[in-house]
Amino acid sequence: MKLLHQGKVRDVYELDAQRLLIVATDRLSAYDVIFPDPIPGKGVILTALTRWWLPQLTDIVATHWDGGGDAECRVLAADPDTPLDPVYRADLPQRAMIVERCQVVPFECVVRGYAYGSYLKSHPDVAPMTPFDPPLFTPSTKATEGHDETIPFEQMQAALGPLADELRDKALALFQFAAARCAAAGIVLVDTKFEFGHAADGTLRLVDECFTPDSSRFILQADVERGVYDSFDKQIVRDYVDRVGWDHTPPAPQLPPDIIAKTRERYATIQQRLTGDSI
Ligand SMILES: Nc1ncnc2c1ncn2[C@@H]1O[C@H](COP(=O)(O)OP(=O)(O)OP(=O)(O)O)[C@@H](O)[C@H]1O
Ligand SMILES: [Mg+2]
Repeated sequence: MKLLHQGKVRDVYELDAQRLLIVATDRLSAYDVIFPDPIPGKGVILTALTRWWLPQLTDIVATHWDGGGDAECRVLAADPDTPLDPVYRADLPQRAMIVERCQVVPFECVVRGYAYGSYLKSHPDVAPMTPFDPPLFTPSTKATEGHDETIPFEQMQAALGPLADELRDKALALFQFAAARCAAAGIVLVDTKFEFGHAADGTLRLVDECFTPDSSRFILQADVERGVYDSFDKQIVRDYVDRVGWDHTPPAPQLPPDIIAKTRERYATIQQRLTGDSI
């Protein structure tokens, strides 16, 4: 097994020609810079959510996970020859997934149910949380370095042909499904990002994580009703670093313990409300 890719959050290992071991670490990135302090347990929360969502989505699109791999994760964790980050060995089965290796489509499929985040920056005349009915598909480039950039759908179509329409339709259907599921848990799904890929046989797969606080913006329904738009993700960290005047260039500042604890709590709240399990 070899380390193929160390992303901002995940360590991706090649298990064999067809399969990857994706380990969700506790790393936190904001403004595309990784912070020196991990958020303890964050990777376990991300993995629990992705494992909970993926099997529910297969009527819409096939995914890169077949629901298995736990026993193999336990074997890998116990084998001292497995080249794992020692910090993540003990709870590997809770933070890792064995998935089908895919050729990832080099666009991020972003869907927005409400105006927030980068949409507001590029549309300063639009009020925060203005609903989009139907939701908007706002794809972006998948930058290997630096920031992803929102692009017109036509640019994605020019690059991918009819696949662009297929990905847009799948992304919108996934969003609608998840938004209803979130609503039932008292959560508003504001926006989200997906990645798709092609399996070795050429068929389409939903890959990566999905509907986690790293890939999505969630706000509690009760908060929305009273006009409070606090999103349950790393917004606390963004607010903190903006307060202390960090200019978003590396290195990222250290985080005070209360900011770390509150961030963890926010990730855990979403996971508990949706899955019903506390970690
Ligand atoms: N089934 C899969 N097959 C191949 N690659 C995958 C699969 N699922 C996820 N990935 C890739 O694994 C990586 C996950 O790591 P992470 O999310 O930490 O990366 P990232 O910081 O977002 O960096 P990147 O710029 O590479 O996306 C992503 O590059 C994602 O595209
Ligand atoms: Mg990613």
